[in-house]
Amino acid sequence: SAARTNLAFSAKSRLSQNLFNLITLIGNRASALNMKPYLIGGIVRDLILGRDNQDIDIVVEGNAIELGENLAASEGGSVRTHEAFKTATWTSPEGIKVDLTSARTEYYDYPAALPQVELSDIKEDLYRRDFTINAMGMSLAPVDFGRLIDFFNGYLDIRGGIIKVLYNLSFTEDPTRVLRAMRFEHRFSFHMDEQTETLARNHGRTLSSVSKPRIAGELSRLLIEESPVFFVKRAAELDVFRYILSSHEDVITCLSRLSVYEELAKQVNLEKSIHNWTAILTLLSDFTPDAFSECRSYAHNKQEARYVSEIESISSAVRPAVIKLSEWHRILEGKSSVASAVFFAKAGSEDQAIAEMGRLYLTGREQVKNRISGQDLIKLGLEPGPDFKEWLLEIEGKWLDEPNLTKDDMLRWAQEHLLIRASENETE
Ligand code: CTP
Repeated sequence: SAARTNLAFSAKSRLSQNLFNLITLIGNRASALNMKPYLIGGIVRDLILGRDNQDIDIVVEGNAIELGENLAASEGGSVRTHEAFKTATWTSPEGIKVDLTSARTEYYDYPAALPQVELSDIKEDLYRRDFTINAMGMSLAPVDFGRLIDFFNGYLDIRGGIIKVLYNLSFTEDPTRVLRAMRFEHRFSFHMDEQTETLARNHGRTLSSVSKPRIAGELSRLLIEESPVFFVKRAAELDVFRYILSSHEDVITCLSRLSVYEELAKQVNLEKSIHNWTAILTLLSDFTPDAFSECRSYAHNKQEARYVSEIESISSAVRPAVIKLSEWHRILEGKSSVASAVFFAKAGSEDQAIAEMGRLYLTGREQVKNRISGQDLIKLGLEPGPDFKEWLLEIEGKWLDEPNLTKDDMLRWAQEHLLIRASENETE
């Protein structure tokens, strides 16, 4: 039963030796200072699930700043403190960063509001958290090291595969938890209990009052760490899709685009970057100017914004008459493969031939890239100059249209056509 559960063995076998020694040391030191130390949050859940996780979060009943400073003084390393939140980050002499938090009642996911941190005991600290499975602790005190602290039946909910809020206002206080609930559902193949699901369903609207960066933080994890297909289905089911992406397409369209995209991504070895998610989000939208702005408004950084802008510029440049690979190359040259694949997936879900074109183009582009260089043109007797870029593009285009040409064929063609053109330019 949960009451007798002890995670010491699990912690010793799952955590790296360094980390395990570190939490033991912190436990000893906190106890010596008369504080009660706990490992809390996702890592406790994962110890029970037997999943790998090395993100240690420590909460003490007592002042975490005092603990952090004491550790730095006695063990070395350095400490950074945050007086307003009563938190400290201790960097051990080996360079491991450990967040030390004072048990408190308020929950601040986003430290913009004025903090009024009230120190409390571990039970209150755990109560303000998102779900029962994330609201457990493991004692680090030497007297009962490893003891599971579980006031809200998180252990049973893990056994039952249940995502359950601790209190009815949980989603009201932090609507991004709806996205977190979906994320954990997918990751662990768990399911929200009936009450939690009803609450989630009723909180879609409140998501539109949350700042974009906060939604983006959770949305990106849902799309990248978990699955876009799951996101679309579940978000629609819970009626939260429209509050996250008001310009979204219907579910069937989204799913068919995603399947073309995933197929393309496999065929052309698309890099799976943590920044891709804005491109995926755009794929789910209706490709209107408003949709592009909406997707861009979620971007955390330039790269994430760039994917959206690339997709926008591709989709305004493409005309129905674009057929040859060299023509696609004119439009897509310089655009990332991710953005190009999103475009092909959108158009390809309406027209199978375009999906095939996308595959040919994206694989072909890899093969022709840099096969002929500016140096090669110079060897042919061409003067380096502003036309070089255009000529190389033309060579690549021809090669895409006629992939069986050898490098020698291409050089001969370049010599015949480009030399003549270069001399025409001179006489102009
Ligand atoms: N938390 C919360 N509400 C949020 C975000 C976080 O209550 N909106 C709490 C949860 O108790 C969570 C802990 O803060 O366990 C740490 O958050 P985070 O690192 O985002 O999640 P993990 O549970 O560690 O999930 P992951 O395994 O994905 O890192």
